[in-house]
Amino acid sequence: MPDFDTSVPHIARVYDYWLGGTDNFPADRAMGERTLQAYPNLAYSVRANRAFLARAVRYLAGEAGIRQFLDIGTGIPTANNTHEVAQRVAPQSRIVYVDHDPVVLAHARELLTSTPEGACAYLDGDLREPSAILAGAAETLDFGQPVAVMLIAVMHFIGDDGEASAIVQRLLGACAQGSFLTITHAAGDIDAEQMAEMVRRLNETTAEKTTLRDRAGVTRLFGGLELADPGVIRAAEWRPDTDAEAASPAALWGGVARKP
Ligand SMILES: C[S@@+](CC[C@H](N)C(=O)[O-])C[C@H]1O[C@@H](n2cnc3c(N)ncnc32)[C@H](O)[C@@H]1O
Repeated sequence: MPDFDTSVPHIARVYDYWLGGTDNFPADRAMGERTLQAYPNLAYSVRANRAFLARAVRYLAGEAGIRQFLDIGTGIPTANNTHEVAQRVAPQSRIVYVDHDPVVLAHARELLTSTPEGACAYLDGDLREPSAILAGAAETLDFGQPVAVMLIAVMHFIGDDGEASAIVQRLLGACAQGSFLTITHAAGDIDAEQMAEMVRRLNETTAEKTTLRDRAGVTRLFGGLELADPGVIRAAEWRPDTDAEAASPAALWGGVARKP
């Protein structure tokens, strides 16, 4: 039996349920169903989020020439994890994953399947402690060279705007010029009523509390950085591969920006 409390839903496992995964417990599945009833398009939204992640990493490793990734709030491994997408483009890519959920830690070896030319590492760490993350990541990443900081569907667990901005600034402050920040964030101004009810249910018992932000609030997190086209946009519409991909429901704002 696991040595952690499975009676309380945790977001990593609820998200795994939404994605159709099996690394979740009855409390996570019950919450997964309650939230899907409030917002049925959630099933599309989480898939659109994963598709955004893959397109953003492909852009960063390809067009932007990035070779180092710091992926915080990694989640339970699924298809197209950051290192898989990056190393398909550039096998020498180095990736550090960070999450605070014990189930993600238990699956960490699936995130460590690096190419021989590159490197992968996993840190059991908390986004609220960016200095500790940076110290641990420095064992694998060279912060004198550009790094892509990936905050995919995780900033909405930091409710306070000031704390959220301070975390982003601490992380990007440690990164070299030419580094990138990628964010997706649950939206308060897309399908607003259903999303509000979905989050109300989620926050009743889930360990990590979710705070929705609107497009302006998410854009503020990129303060001081140069947004790549098309800016902060519904995640499904960020450089989509097909019209069908762009049309997917996705109540998340997403963007990629460069540190000048
Ligand atoms: C919704 S999932 C997103 C997973 C993945 N980034 C994706 O978008 O597919 C959020 C993840 O962030 C993690 N998380 C939440 N708060 C965190 C924190 N303060 N520090 C580290 N990880 C956190 C959760 O454990 C979970 O695995």
